[in-house]
Amino acid sequence: MTKMESLEQVQSMGRERLYPSLTNPNWLVLRKRRELFRRWLEGLPELNLSVLDIGGRIQPYRPLMAGQERQYVAVDLRVTPLVDVVANAERLPLASESFDLVLCTQMLEYVPHPQQAILEIHRVLKPRGVLLLSVPTASLKDTDEDRWRFLPAGIRQLLSAFSEIELVAEGGSIAGLFRTVNVCLQLFARYRALRTVLSHTITPVLNLVGAGMEGLARSDNEAFAVNYSVLARK
Ligand SMILES: C[S@@+](CC[C@H](N)C(=O)[O-])C[C@H]1O[C@@H](n2cnc3c(N)ncnc32)[C@H](O)[C@@H]1O
Repeated sequence: MTKMESLEQVQSMGRERLYPSLTNPNWLVLRKRRELFRRWLEGLPELNLSVLDIGGRIQPYRPLMAGQERQYVAVDLRVTPLVDVVANAERLPLASESFDLVLCTQMLEYVPHPQQAILEIHRVLKPRGVLLLSVPTASLKDTDEDRWRFLPAGIRQLLSAFSEIELVAEGGSIAGLFRTVNVCLQLFARYRALRTVLSHTITPVLNLVGAGMEGLARSDNEAFAVNYSVLARK
């Protein structure tokens, strides 16, 4: 059985996802996700939001809410000090039309029936409520429960019950390539010491070169975008 993570551990993981260090192989996509979520949250006019975070074990994006939330409910299969309701996203034990905002980041790939989880999110959202979603398109298998990867047409199909959808790649193909090289270097480095050396030498260089090249190329090529963020309105 997995040992329960402490508050300090999950808060530290959350900080690293929201403000990744340059030594993080996922730096390119994580910083893009932060920019998108910040913009979308700032664009929500309402105060006193009732928020549901599904897969809310770590809550990296909660600090971006800056007091907009009246209520913040975290649902996850795994218990941590931040989880309020231990439940499956496919069967939420929550009332219909009870949340203004649902956050669901990097969770859908683990759910056996992603369409069912999206239907549940749609059900618990109030009319005109908003879902902020992020999903992987190309990434290494995380655990044996990791089941799916998502492309734009599939994401739109899953979200077809929503009235408005803004789908944005978390970086284009150049960022995707540099992110992938970074995570593969970590994968193939057999020894922890080598991984540490890589993450303090080559990884920051690849992160910065990837960001620089993406800025200079100004390309709209997203064929190898590795993660997507979505704002969907009910
Ligand atoms: C990769 S973590 C993402 C955590 C956080 N949302 C983030 O963006 O960093 C995926 C989370 O989804 C949870 N999870 C996986 N399957 C789930 C399900 N069917 N229902 C609820 N939570 C689930 C896992 O326990 C885990 O905490």
